[in-house]
Amino acid sequence: MPWTIPLSDLDFGPEEQQAVQGVLASKWLSMGEVTETFERHFAAFLGVPYAVAVSSGTAALHLALAALGIGRGDEVIVPSLTFVASVNAVLYVGASPVFVDITSRNDFSIAPQAIEQAITPATRAVMVVHYGGYPADMAAITAAIAGRDIAVVEDAAHAPGAQLDGRSLGSFGEAGCFSFFANKNMTTGEGGMLVTCRPDVYERVRRLRSHGMTTATWDRHRGHASSYDVVDLGFNYRPSEINAALGLAQLRKLPGNTQRRRQLTEEYHQRLQYIPGVALPFQAHPGPSACHLLPVLLENTAVRTHVMQHLASRGIQTSIHYPPIHQFSFYQKQYQISSASLSNTEAVGSCQMTLPLYADMTGDQIDYVCTCIADALQKP
Ligand SMILES: Cc1ncc(COP(=O)(O)O)c(C=O)c1O
Repeated sequence: MPWTIPLSDLDFGPEEQQAVQGVLASKWLSMGEVTETFERHFAAFLGVPYAVAVSSGTAALHLALAALGIGRGDEVIVPSLTFVASVNAVLYVGASPVFVDITSRNDFSIAPQAIEQAITPATRAVMVVHYGGYPADMAAITAAIAGRDIAVVEDAAHAPGAQLDGRSLGSFGEAGCFSFFANKNMTTGEGGMLVTCRPDVYERVRRLRSHGMTTATWDRHRGHASSYDVVDLGFNYRPSEINAALGLAQLRKLPGNTQRRRQLTEEYHQRLQYIPGVALPFQAHPGPSACHLLPVLLENTAVRTHVMQHLASRGIQTSIHYPPIHQFSFYQKQYQISSASLSNTEAVGSCQMTLPLYADMTGDQIDYVCTCIADALQKP
Protein backbone atom coordinates (compact mmCIF):
# COMPACT_ATOMS: atom_id res chain seq x y z
CA MET A 1 0.00 0.00 0.00
CA PRO A 2 1.51 3.36 -0.99
CA TRP A 3 1.08 5.34 2.26
CA THR A 4 0.86 9.13 2.16
CA ILE A 5 2.48 9.13 5.59
CA PRO A 6 4.33 5.88 6.37
CA LEU A 7 5.18 4.74 9.90
CA SER A 8 8.89 5.28 9.29
CA ASP A 9 11.06 6.50 6.45
CA LEU A 10 14.76 6.32 5.60
CA ASP A 11 17.10 9.29 5.48
CA PHE A 12 19.22 7.98 2.61
CA GLY A 13 21.00 10.21 0.07
CA PRO A 14 24.28 10.69 -1.78
CA GLU A 15 26.31 9.90 1.38
CA GLU A 16 24.93 6.37 1.54
CA GLN A 17 25.25 5.88 -2.22
CA GLN A 18 28.90 6.96 -2.17
CA ALA A 19 29.61 4.77 0.86
CA VAL A 20 28.23 1.68 -0.88
CA GLN A 21 29.95 2.51 -4.16
CA GLY A 22 33.24 2.83 -2.28
CA VAL A 23 32.88 -0.70 -0.96
CA LEU A 24 31.93 -2.08 -4.37
CA ALA A 25 34.95 -0.39 -5.94
CA SER A 26 37.24 -1.88 -3.27
CA LYS A 27 36.11 -5.41 -4.22
CA TRP A 28 36.27 -6.46 -0.54
CA LEU A 29 32.69 -7.17 0.53
CA SER A 30 32.95 -9.41 3.57
CA MET A 31 33.76 -8.17 7.08
CA GLY A 32 36.96 -6.11 7.01
CA GLU A 33 38.34 -2.60 7.38
CA VAL A 34 35.08 -0.68 6.99
CA THR A 35 33.45 -2.86 9.65
CA GLU A 36 36.36 -2.21 12.00
CA THR A 37 36.03 1.55 11.41
CA PHE A 38 32.28 1.39 12.00
CA GLU A 39 32.87 -0.44 15.29
CA ARG A 40 35.42 2.15 16.44
CA HIS A 41 33.16 5.08 15.57
CA PHE A 42 30.09 3.52 17.18
CA ALA A 43 32.03 2.75 20.38
CA ALA A 44 33.36 6.33 20.50
CA PHE A 45 29.88 7.72 19.87
CA LEU A 46 28.53 5.76 22.85
CA GLY A 47 31.59 6.31 25.04
CA VAL A 48 32.29 2.58 25.48
CA PRO A 49 35.58 0.71 24.96
CA TYR A 50 34.25 -2.14 22.79
CA ALA A 51 31.77 -2.60 19.94
CA VAL A 52 31.21 -5.65 17.73
CA ALA A 53 29.21 -5.28 14.52
CA VAL A 54 26.88 -8.18 13.75
CA SER A 55 24.29 -9.18 11.18
CA SER A 56 21.20 -8.14 13.22
CA GLY A 57 19.98 -6.90 16.57
CA THR A 58 18.72 -10.40 17.25
CA ALA A 59 22.23 -11.78 16.69
CA ALA A 60 23.57 -9.20 19.17
CA LEU A 61 21.06 -10.35 21.80
CA HIS A 62 21.86 -14.01 21.19
CA LEU A 63 25.61 -13.42 21.39
CA ALA A 64 25.28 -11.33 24.56
CA LEU A 65 23.57 -14.18 26.39
CA ALA A 66 25.86 -16.83 24.89
CA ALA A 67 29.01 -14.87 25.76
CA LEU A 68 27.81 -14.49 29.35
CA GLY A 69 27.56 -18.28 29.54
CA ILE A 70 23.79 -18.31 30.07
CA GLY A 71 22.14 -21.59 29.12
CA ARG A 72 20.05 -24.56 30.14
CA GLY A 73 18.64 -24.37 33.66
CA ASP A 74 19.14 -20.60 33.84
CA GLU A 75 16.38 -18.01 34.07
CA VAL A 76 16.37 -14.62 32.38
CA ILE A 77 13.90 -11.98 33.55
CA VAL A 78 12.27 -10.31 30.53
CA PRO A 79 9.47 -7.88 29.72
CA SER A 80 6.61 -9.16 27.58
CA LEU A 81 5.93 -5.78 25.95
CA THR A 82 8.77 -5.92 23.45
CA PHE A 83 9.63 -7.29 20.04
CA VAL A 84 9.70 -11.09 20.13
CA ALA A 85 13.45 -11.11 19.38
CA SER A 86 14.25 -9.94 22.93
CA VAL A 87 12.81 -13.16 24.33
CA ASN A 88 13.59 -15.54 21.45
CA ALA A 89 17.26 -14.89 22.20
CA VAL A 90 16.74 -16.38 25.67
CA LEU A 91 15.33 -19.55 24.10
CA TYR A 92 18.20 -19.75 21.59
CA VAL A 93 20.66 -20.31 24.47
CA GLY A 94 18.33 -22.85 26.12
CA ALA A 95 17.46 -20.65 29.12
CA SER A 96 13.94 -19.91 30.42
CA PRO A 97 12.35 -16.50 30.12
CA VAL A 98 10.54 -15.22 33.21
CA PHE A 99 8.05 -12.55 32.17
CA VAL A 100 7.51 -9.53 34.39
CA ASP A 101 5.31 -6.47 34.05
CA ILE A 102 6.11 -2.96 32.82
CA THR A 103 6.22 -0.07 35.28
CA SER A 104 2.90 1.58 34.42
CA ARG A 105 0.62 2.70 31.63
CA ASN A 106 2.74 5.83 31.43
CA ASP A 107 6.17 4.13 31.46
CA PHE A 108 6.43 0.93 29.40
CA SER A 109 9.87 -0.08 30.76
CA ILE A 110 10.39 -3.24 32.80
CA ALA A 111 9.30 -2.64 36.44
CA PRO A 112 12.25 -2.77 38.89
CA GLN A 113 10.00 -3.97 41.73
CA ALA A 114 8.69 -6.82 39.57
CA ILE A 115 12.28 -7.80 38.76
CA GLU A 116 13.09 -8.08 42.45
CA GLN A 117 10.04 -10.27 43.06
CA ALA A 118 10.88 -12.58 40.14
CA ILE A 119 14.44 -13.37 41.22
CA THR A 120 15.11 -17.03 42.07
CA PRO A 121 18.38 -18.93 42.64
CA ALA A 122 18.33 -19.72 38.88
CA THR A 123 18.19 -16.06 37.75
CA ARG A 124 21.27 -15.22 35.70
CA ALA A 125 20.27 -12.09 33.79
CA VAL A 126 17.72 -9.35 33.24
CA MET A 127 16.83 -8.22 29.73
CA VAL A 128 16.16 -4.49 29.89
CA VAL A 129 14.41 -3.01 26.83
CA HIS A 130 14.56 0.75 26.36
CA TYR A 131 11.12 0.90 24.80
CA GLY A 132 10.81 3.44 21.99
CA GLY A 133 14.22 4.89 22.91
CA TYR A 134 13.04 5.95 26.40
CA PRO A 135 15.44 4.93 29.18
CA ALA A 136 14.45 2.26 31.66
CA ASP A 137 15.19 3.15 35.28
CA MET A 138 18.73 1.77 35.43
CA ALA A 139 19.42 2.94 38.99
CA ALA A 140 16.35 1.12 40.33
CA ILE A 141 17.12 -1.98 38.24
CA THR A 142 20.69 -2.06 39.51
CA ALA A 143 19.37 -1.74 43.07
CA ALA A 144 16.85 -4.55 42.49
CA ILE A 145 19.60 -7.05 41.62
CA ALA A 146 22.30 -5.66 43.93
CA GLY A 147 24.50 -8.20 45.69
CA ARG A 148 23.57 -11.02 43.30
CA ASP A 149 25.39 -12.51 40.34
CA ILE A 150 22.82 -11.27 37.80
CA ALA A 151 23.89 -9.72 34.50
CA VAL A 152 22.07 -6.90 32.74
CA VAL A 153 21.64 -7.13 28.97
CA GLU A 154 20.25 -3.95 27.46
CA ASP A 155 18.09 -4.30 24.38
CA ALA A 156 18.85 -0.84 23.02
CA ALA A 157 17.44 -1.58 19.55
CA HIS A 158 15.41 1.64 19.75
CA ALA A 159 17.93 3.71 21.60
CA PRO A 160 21.12 4.73 19.75
CA GLY A 161 21.95 8.24 20.96
CA ALA A 162 19.63 8.16 23.98
CA GLN A 163 21.08 8.92 27.40
CA LEU A 164 20.32 8.67 31.07
CA ASP A 165 22.22 10.72 33.66
CA GLY A 166 24.66 11.76 30.95
CA ARG A 167 25.49 8.15 30.02
CA SER A 168 24.58 6.41 26.75
CA LEU A 169 21.93 3.73 26.83
CA GLY A 170 23.57 0.42 26.03
CA SER A 171 26.55 1.24 28.26
CA PHE A 172 24.97 0.38 31.62
CA GLY A 173 24.80 -3.41 31.44
CA GLU A 174 27.23 -6.23 30.67
CA ALA A 175 26.17 -5.82 27.04
CA GLY A 176 24.12 -3.32 25.02
CA CYS A 177 22.46 -4.57 21.83
CA PHE A 178 21.47 -2.32 18.91
CA SER A 179 19.48 -3.05 15.76
CA PHE A 180 20.00 -1.38 12.40
CA PHE A 181 16.91 -2.89 10.78
CA ALA A 182 15.28 -0.74 8.11
CA ASN A 183 12.76 0.98 10.42
CA LYS A 184 15.31 1.99 13.08
CA ASN A 185 16.74 5.48 13.81
CA MET A 186 19.87 4.50 11.90
CA THR A 187 19.80 1.62 9.46
CA THR A 188 22.04 -0.64 7.44
CA GLY A 189 19.12 -2.62 5.98
CA GLU A 190 19.83 -5.52 8.29
CA GLY A 191 22.48 -5.23 10.97
CA GLY A 192 23.26 -4.79 14.61
CA MET A 193 25.94 -3.90 17.15
CA LEU A 194 26.88 -5.25 20.55
CA VAL A 195 28.72 -2.90 22.89
CA THR A 196 30.34 -3.78 26.20
CA CYS A 197 32.79 -2.49 28.78
CA ARG A 198 34.03 -6.02 29.56
CA PRO A 199 37.08 -7.24 27.63
CA ASP A 200 36.15 -10.90 28.22
CA VAL A 201 32.65 -10.41 26.76
CA TYR A 202 34.14 -8.51 23.82
CA GLU A 203 36.63 -11.27 22.99
CA ARG A 204 34.04 -14.04 23.27
CA VAL A 205 31.43 -12.17 21.19
CA ARG A 206 34.01 -11.57 18.46
CA ARG A 207 34.79 -15.28 18.35
CA LEU A 208 31.16 -16.42 18.51
CA ARG A 209 30.23 -14.03 15.69
CA SER A 210 32.36 -16.08 13.33
CA HIS A 211 32.19 -19.79 14.19
CA GLY A 212 34.45 -19.59 17.22
CA MET A 213 37.43 -19.08 14.91
CA THR A 214 40.60 -17.48 16.25
CA THR A 215 41.28 -15.45 13.09
CA ALA A 216 39.10 -13.87 10.41
CA THR A 217 39.29 -14.10 6.62
CA TRP A 218 40.27 -10.43 6.68
CA ASP A 219 43.26 -11.18 8.95
CA ARG A 220 44.41 -13.91 6.61
CA HIS A 221 43.91 -11.69 3.54
CA ARG A 222 46.19 -9.08 5.08
CA GLY A 223 48.76 -11.76 5.86
CA HIS A 224 48.27 -11.33 9.62
CA ALA A 225 47.51 -15.04 9.98
CA SER A 226 47.75 -18.09 7.81
CA SER A 227 45.47 -20.50 9.67
CA TYR A 228 43.03 -20.64 12.56
CA ASP A 229 41.75 -22.77 15.37
CA VAL A 230 38.09 -23.22 16.40
CA VAL A 231 37.78 -22.78 20.16
CA ASP A 232 34.02 -22.35 20.64
CA LEU A 233 30.75 -23.36 18.96
CA GLY A 234 30.02 -20.11 17.13
CA PHE A 235 27.73 -18.80 14.40
CA ASN A 236 27.88 -16.78 11.22
CA TYR A 237 26.62 -13.43 12.49
CA ARG A 238 29.06 -11.34 10.45
CA PRO A 239 27.91 -8.12 8.77
CA SER A 240 29.14 -7.21 5.29
CA GLU A 241 31.24 -4.19 4.41
CA ILE A 242 28.21 -2.75 2.62
CA ASN A 243 26.25 -2.80 5.89
CA ALA A 244 29.15 -1.18 7.72
CA ALA A 245 29.58 1.55 5.11
CA LEU A 246 25.88 2.39 5.39
CA GLY A 247 26.24 2.36 9.18
CA LEU A 248 29.07 4.90 9.11
CA ALA A 249 27.06 7.24 6.88
CA GLN A 250 23.96 6.84 9.05
CA LEU A 251 25.90 7.33 12.29
CA ARG A 252 27.09 10.73 11.05
CA LYS A 253 23.47 11.77 10.54
CA LEU A 254 22.18 10.30 13.80
CA PRO A 255 22.70 13.29 16.16
CA GLY A 256 20.88 15.69 13.80
CA ASN A 257 18.12 13.22 13.07
CA THR A 258 17.63 12.43 16.76
CA GLN A 259 17.33 16.14 17.50
CA ARG A 260 14.66 16.39 14.80
CA ARG A 261 12.80 13.38 16.24
CA ARG A 262 12.74 15.08 19.65
CA GLN A 263 11.26 18.25 18.12
CA LEU A 264 8.64 16.25 16.24
CA THR A 265 7.73 14.32 19.40
CA GLU A 266 7.27 17.64 21.20
CA GLU A 267 5.02 18.89 18.37
CA TYR A 268 2.95 15.71 18.47
CA HIS A 269 2.52 16.02 22.25
CA GLN A 270 1.49 19.68 21.96
CA ARG A 271 -1.23 18.72 19.50
CA LEU A 272 -2.37 15.40 20.98
CA GLN A 273 -2.79 16.63 24.56
CA TYR A 274 -5.94 18.51 23.52
CA ILE A 275 -7.60 15.48 21.95
CA PRO A 276 -9.88 13.75 24.49
CA GLY A 277 -9.45 9.99 24.53
CA VAL A 278 -5.73 10.05 23.69
CA ALA A 279 -3.26 9.37 26.51
CA LEU A 280 0.44 10.16 26.04
CA PRO A 281 2.94 7.88 27.79
CA PHE A 282 6.54 8.89 28.58
CA GLN A 283 5.71 12.55 29.17
CA ALA A 284 8.43 14.26 31.25
CA HIS A 285 10.41 10.99 31.15
CA PRO A 286 14.14 11.09 32.09
CA GLY A 287 16.38 11.17 29.04
CA PRO A 288 17.06 12.50 26.50
CA SER A 289 15.25 9.81 24.54
CA ALA A 290 16.15 8.60 21.05
CA CYS A 291 12.45 9.16 20.25
CA HIS A 292 12.24 6.05 18.08
CA LEU A 293 8.51 5.49 18.54
CA LEU A 294 5.55 7.79 19.10
CA PRO A 295 3.19 5.66 21.22
CA VAL A 296 -0.29 6.73 22.33
CA LEU A 297 -2.99 4.92 24.29
CA LEU A 298 -6.64 4.89 23.23
CA GLU A 299 -9.65 3.92 25.30
CA ASN A 300 -9.88 0.25 24.34
CA THR A 301 -9.20 -2.26 21.56
CA ALA A 302 -12.37 -1.41 19.60
CA VAL A 303 -11.52 2.30 19.54
CA ARG A 304 -7.97 1.46 18.49
CA THR A 305 -9.17 -0.67 15.58
CA HIS A 306 -11.54 2.09 14.48
CA VAL A 307 -8.84 4.82 14.67
CA MET A 308 -6.23 2.68 12.89
CA GLN A 309 -8.71 1.90 10.10
CA HIS A 310 -9.71 5.56 9.78
CA LEU A 311 -6.06 6.65 9.57
CA ALA A 312 -5.30 3.91 7.02
CA SER A 313 -8.21 5.18 4.87
CA ARG A 314 -6.49 8.61 4.94
CA GLY A 315 -3.16 7.10 3.86
CA ILE A 316 -1.59 7.15 7.34
CA GLN A 317 0.22 4.01 8.51
CA THR A 318 0.11 3.09 12.19
CA SER A 319 1.24 0.07 14.17
CA ILE A 320 1.07 -1.69 17.54
CA HIS A 321 4.15 -1.92 19.79
CA TYR A 322 3.64 -4.55 20.97
CA PRO A 323 1.26 -7.48 21.06
CA PRO A 324 2.57 -8.94 24.37
CA ILE A 325 4.87 -11.89 23.77
CA HIS A 326 3.28 -14.11 26.43
CA GLN A 327 0.02 -13.97 24.45
CA PHE A 328 1.55 -15.37 21.23
CA SER A 329 0.46 -18.97 20.52
CA PHE A 330 4.02 -20.30 20.56
CA TYR A 331 4.76 -18.80 23.97
CA GLN A 332 1.36 -19.71 25.39
CA LYS A 333 1.93 -23.36 24.51
CA GLN A 334 5.26 -23.38 26.33
CA TYR A 335 4.53 -21.32 29.43
CA GLN A 336 1.70 -21.05 31.92
CA ILE A 337 1.76 -17.35 32.63
CA SER A 338 -0.42 -15.69 35.20
CA SER A 339 -1.91 -12.72 33.39
CA ALA A 340 -2.70 -10.99 36.69
CA SER A 341 0.99 -10.31 37.15
CA LEU A 342 1.20 -8.71 33.71
CA SER A 343 -1.79 -6.40 34.01
CA ASN A 344 -0.07 -3.21 32.81
CA THR A 345 1.47 -5.09 29.88
CA GLU A 346 -1.91 -6.49 28.84
CA ALA A 347 -3.68 -3.13 29.29
CA VAL A 348 -1.11 -1.37 27.10
CA GLY A 349 -1.07 -4.22 24.58
CA SER A 350 -4.83 -3.89 24.16
CA CYS A 351 -5.02 -0.17 23.34
CA GLN A 352 -1.57 1.09 22.31
CA MET A 353 -1.08 2.62 18.85
CA THR A 354 2.14 3.90 17.28
CA LEU A 355 2.04 6.99 15.06
CA PRO A 356 4.35 7.83 12.13
CA LEU A 357 7.68 9.36 13.14
CA TYR A 358 10.79 9.93 11.05
CA ALA A 359 13.37 12.69 10.74
CA ASP A 360 12.06 14.09 7.45
CA MET A 361 8.50 14.42 8.71
CA THR A 362 7.00 17.91 8.53
CA GLY A 363 4.88 19.88 10.98
CA ASP A 364 2.06 19.84 8.41
CA GLN A 365 2.15 16.05 8.33
CA ILE A 366 1.88 15.95 12.12
CA ASP A 367 -1.08 18.34 11.95
CA TYR A 368 -2.74 16.08 9.40
CA VAL A 369 -2.22 12.93 11.49
CA CYS A 370 -3.60 14.65 14.62
CA THR A 371 -6.59 16.08 12.76
CA CYS A 372 -7.41 12.63 11.41
CA ILE A 373 -7.19 11.13 14.92
CA ALA A 374 -9.52 13.82 16.29
CA ASP A 375 -11.96 13.19 13.38
CA ALA A 376 -11.91 9.44 14.02
CA LEU A 377 -12.64 9.88 17.72
CA GLN A 378 -15.53 12.24 16.99
CA LYS A 379 -17.14 9.71 14.60
CA PRO A 380 -17.08 6.35 16.35
C1 LIG B 1 13.07 -4.07 20.83
C2 LIG B 1 13.74 -4.85 19.73
N1 LIG B 1 14.62 -5.81 20.04
C3 LIG B 1 15.24 -6.52 19.11
C4 LIG B 1 15.02 -6.31 17.78
C5 LIG B 1 15.68 -7.21 16.77
O1 LIG B 1 16.49 -6.54 15.87
P1 LIG B 1 16.73 -7.12 14.40
O2 LIG B 1 15.46 -6.97 13.63
O3 LIG B 1 17.82 -6.23 13.87
O4 LIG B 1 17.15 -8.52 14.54
C6 LIG B 1 14.14 -5.30 17.38
C7 LIG B 1 13.89 -5.05 15.95
O5 LIG B 1 12.86 -4.81 15.47
C8 LIG B 1 13.47 -4.56 18.39
O6 LIG B 1 12.57 -3.62 18.06
